[in-house]
Amino acid sequence: MCGIVGYVGEKQALQVVVDGLRRMEYRGYDSAGVAVVADGRLDVRKKAGKLANLESLLGSDPLAQSTTGIGHTRWATHGGPTDANAHPHVSADGSVAVIHNGIIENFAELRAELAAAGVVLASDTDTEVVAHLLAATLPEVGDDLAEAMRIVCRRLSGAFTLVAVRADRPDVVVGARRNSPLVVGRGDGENFLASDVSAFIAHTRHALELGQDQVVTLTRDSIVVTDFDGTPATPNAYEVTWDASAAEKGGYDTFMAKEIAEQPKAVADTLLGRIDVDGRLALDEMRMTDGELREVDKVVVIACGTAYHAGLVAKYALEHWTRLPCEVELASEFRYRDPVIDRRTLVVAISQSGETMDTLMALRYAREQDARVLAICNTQGSTIPRESDAVLYTHAGPEVAVASTKAFLTQLVACYLVALYVAQVRGNKFGDEIAMVVRELADMPRKIDLVLDTTEEVEALAAMLQDARSVLFIGRHVGYPVALEGALKLKELAYMHAEGFAAGELKHGPIALLEDRLPVIVVVPSPRGRSVLHEKIVSNVQEVRARGARTIVIAEEGDDAVVPYADHLVRVPECPTLLQPLLAAVPLQVFACAMATAKGHDVDQPRNLAKSVTVE
Ligand code: M6R
Repeated sequence: MCGIVGYVGEKQALQVVVDGLRRMEYRGYDSAGVAVVADGRLDVRKKAGKLANLESLLGSDPLAQSTTGIGHTRWATHGGPTDANAHPHVSADGSVAVIHNGIIENFAELRAELAAAGVVLASDTDTEVVAHLLAATLPEVGDDLAEAMRIVCRRLSGAFTLVAVRADRPDVVVGARRNSPLVVGRGDGENFLASDVSAFIAHTRHALELGQDQVVTLTRDSIVVTDFDGTPATPNAYEVTWDASAAEKGGYDTFMAKEIAEQPKAVADTLLGRIDVDGRLALDEMRMTDGELREVDKVVVIACGTAYHAGLVAKYALEHWTRLPCEVELASEFRYRDPVIDRRTLVVAISQSGETMDTLMALRYAREQDARVLAICNTQGSTIPRESDAVLYTHAGPEVAVASTKAFLTQLVACYLVALYVAQVRGNKFGDEIAMVVRELADMPRKIDLVLDTTEEVEALAAMLQDARSVLFIGRHVGYPVALEGALKLKELAYMHAEGFAAGELKHGPIALLEDRLPVIVVVPSPRGRSVLHEKIVSNVQEVRARGARTIVIAEEGDDAVVPYADHLVRVPECPTLLQPLLAAVPLQVFACAMATAKGHDVDQPRNLAKSVTVE
């Protein structure tokens, strides 16, 4: 969702800010704007649409030179994506410019108050009220923008990251955060504020995490953090472990294609350092003693979208390996149903971004109920790991495409590791059994590489099916979440009807959807091991085929039983059933990416979507 950049330093602020906004384009947005402080005034340009629109405006109507500026990409919430609603918003007296991410829930009341005081509002946004409130507060606090920000923030409810500049202070940028992301980049003679580190990674890898309800004041040479009451705070400093090239396309047409190709490495990196020489798992990051882990009597996974699908796979692994009951819940539903959790519940919050508001609110609720929360997260310094009791980072590197791919596979790996670790500590499995699964896991990067060899044939299939009205996905056991994930990818990228079903459920209703040549993608489990599962799905494929649908079957090498019923066959290497999602998900990602390309869609930034969903 909204992307925010603030800069103060020695460089031309406009360039730094626009580059930062471009690097955060992946977050999803529908208008953009910038403001710089120059000659005692604020120079602002903003435009609906993509950054290119703003840049062409800047070409015809250049901004003043300045070394202090702010920039914003907006994902509309209050008010449509128009020029007037784009940020920055400037106070009526022209003294303050503000950008904002989040939702100010009491904005209607504040708007009414301002209107009663004679302020004419120029937009439909919740943000604009902050600009006017700051301007009205400044004279009361000796024109101290940070103090005015603290006073105004205390009046706001909801979620917000705010960044503001003042016309007559060309060397100061002030930011504030509650529930929405904001990180500080510490440079040499320059400092940055941004929604995520990708905005400033080309300039510095030194970052500072801002806590909840904090205000930060940047000058070229100083960074001062306080809480909303003015009490000084010390932010956590960290080094970003990747560089700017990791967030570039590196020769691929799209970030999504690049991220799909990076999956073998992402999986290998996520396993790295977590297995000792004897094949035992060493997950010190779990920060739970063996005694505490033995006391756990239930695991609850909370997550959204793709991360939720990773959680569904986790349930199969956890229950099978640990014999602990596991519930998986959409984070947006969790806290509204009065869930039964207590101090013996281990809550696992899965999130690539670490900023998803639904997941954050669910984890806060879980902690209020005394549950212990373990985050599985890909983004260092983000809010979800910061507010959890422990965190297991996935090491996928920056995921830029809105559609999650490498983050999904690494979330699966993290879930397997947690499940195996719990089994190891609780003694549910013998050491040699765990070592065997760990060896299989360690071999998965090589096998994912083999699946990537099928990319061209899957792309050809997508090109052939691009005019399909709908695509169904079916699977059993861990193949069911994979089917859900395949359908989600297709919906978000190809904008077409796609649904995933448990294959056994087809006959209870969805089978009525089958019609001549309707593509049905079937995720077939290994014929080895749980062969009953395999037999059942072979019957399901036949049922589908018998009704004239076109079957696209994803099956293990050497599985010949499905061949007679497959119109198209995509092979994946042999692997234990529980680990198969790491392989079977890959052709489905490629399929969705190719389908979107064939339809001429923007693969990396699908319409209406945001990478990091920071509103509930
Ligand atoms: O950052 P998170 O993992 O918390 O994001 C959760 C979902 O918004 C995300 O997985 C979304 O469903 C993906 N865009 C799907 O590809």
